[in-house]
Amino acid sequence: MEKLVIRGGSPLKGKVTISGAKNAAVAILPAVILADAPCILENVPKISDVSAIIEIMRSMGALIIETAPHTLRIDATGIRTHEILHEEARRMRASYYFLGVMLSKFGKASVALPGGCDLGARPIDQHLKAFAAMGCRNVVDRGMVFCDAGERPKGAHVFFDIVSVGATINAMLAAVKADGLTVLENVAKEPHVVDVANFLNMMGADIRGAGTDVIKIRGVRKLRGVDYSIVPDQIEAGTFITAAVATGGDVIVDNIIPKHLETIIARIREVGGNVVVDEESVHVRRRGPLCATSVRTMPYPGFPTDMVPQFSILLAMAEGTSVIHEGIWSNRFRYADELRRMGAEITVDGKLAVFNGVEKLKACPVVSTDLRAGAAMVIAGLSADGITEVGNLGHIDRGYEDLVGKMKGLGADIERVNIPDDPEDIFLKAE
Ligand code: EPZ
Repeated sequence: MEKLVIRGGSPLKGKVTISGAKNAAVAILPAVILADAPCILENVPKISDVSAIIEIMRSMGALIIETAPHTLRIDATGIRTHEILHEEARRMRASYYFLGVMLSKFGKASVALPGGCDLGARPIDQHLKAFAAMGCRNVVDRGMVFCDAGERPKGAHVFFDIVSVGATINAMLAAVKADGLTVLENVAKEPHVVDVANFLNMMGADIRGAGTDVIKIRGVRKLRGVDYSIVPDQIEAGTFITAAVATGGDVIVDNIIPKHLETIIARIREVGGNVVVDEESVHVRRRGPLCATSVRTMPYPGFPTDMVPQFSILLAMAEGTSVIHEGIWSNRFRYADELRRMGAEITVDGKLAVFNGVEKLKACPVVSTDLRAGAAMVIAGLSADGITEVGNLGHIDRGYEDLVGKMKGLGADIERVNIPDDPEDIFLKAE
């Protein structure tokens, strides 16, 4: 089993370059299947969620090669199957995007329901609502989702009951070659939603309004192969900005789109971060003692739920009482027990967390309870004096490319080490 061993207490200093956005990549990769020629994708993050999608696509017959670092040439024109089976699809959440893609490509799709999640229930009723509106017959049976739209989905008017990133993107994927006009209302506006729309439009789709409350998609017959660069990851950027402030450092976070970070930067400034914004980077320092604040997470452009664990580290050390009101996930604060082990005074009641700031967090062994909580434990370890070990690294590897290397580049004393799974095993093997 691997762990991170962090000797914290030193400020992060230097420049870090942000990778492509995980939540754009996991949708754009399947969308390549809609192209009638090969595509080149640049700025693809090297994370395990992307590797899982690549494996699924290769198992379907796609030819995928890395032609340069973070650049993939994908020829999915040979794919003939509309089925994604259990063991493949369960590997990651976003496998549901193959539903929208296969409906556009073949008029039907069968995909295993995605695996469970650490954040609470992850329903897909809004995805199925959009498909049904487009004339699909949806059946969920024995862990599989079967959708049948006949020859192709039909344009429809869909008003989502809840703002959903996944449902918005999946509906776009299903509508892009549909028969007629599709209007989606009460949609998600995240940068990765816009990035998927931009990619599809570059292929020849007719999508207008991505990033606003209403998206209109006029179905087209053909989508061509393109060369596309994936948008930088706003949450990875926010994670490094937070780490710079938590360690009292001086860091340039490069290869970002500042517009996507406006709310995050506003909150960082509120708690005591000094952020100077440039064209494609920000320069982050600590201004003084951390100050308490209250945050409510909302769909973009509100404060993102995926920044809650990381931001919690600042609130755990901010003078006074802070509150986070989580608006999206029922189980966002699973990491609270790990933070308490480090001396944080945090009280959680459902979607509400109250922090009483302490001077310093205490180094000790902790585990990642989900992707963003794992990154938060690393930030906590970097800010605490002494040795912190972080376990359950699979979560972190899903969404952060080379987190150890990037932190080392900022002067962090952090190593990824292999620990024997269980001392008992060693004795057993010795016999
Ligand atoms: C995406 O998940 C992200 N994942 C999540 O990031 C992120 O936390 C989330 O959006 C919110 O921003 C990817 O993009 C791969 P939703 P998604 O549909 O699409 C409810 C990370 O750390 N809902 O916007 O699954 C749902 O339960 C990950 O990178 C329904 O009720 O989230 C939630 O309460 C974690 N029915 C709310 O909507 C549905 O059909 C928002 O979920 C769909 C969602």
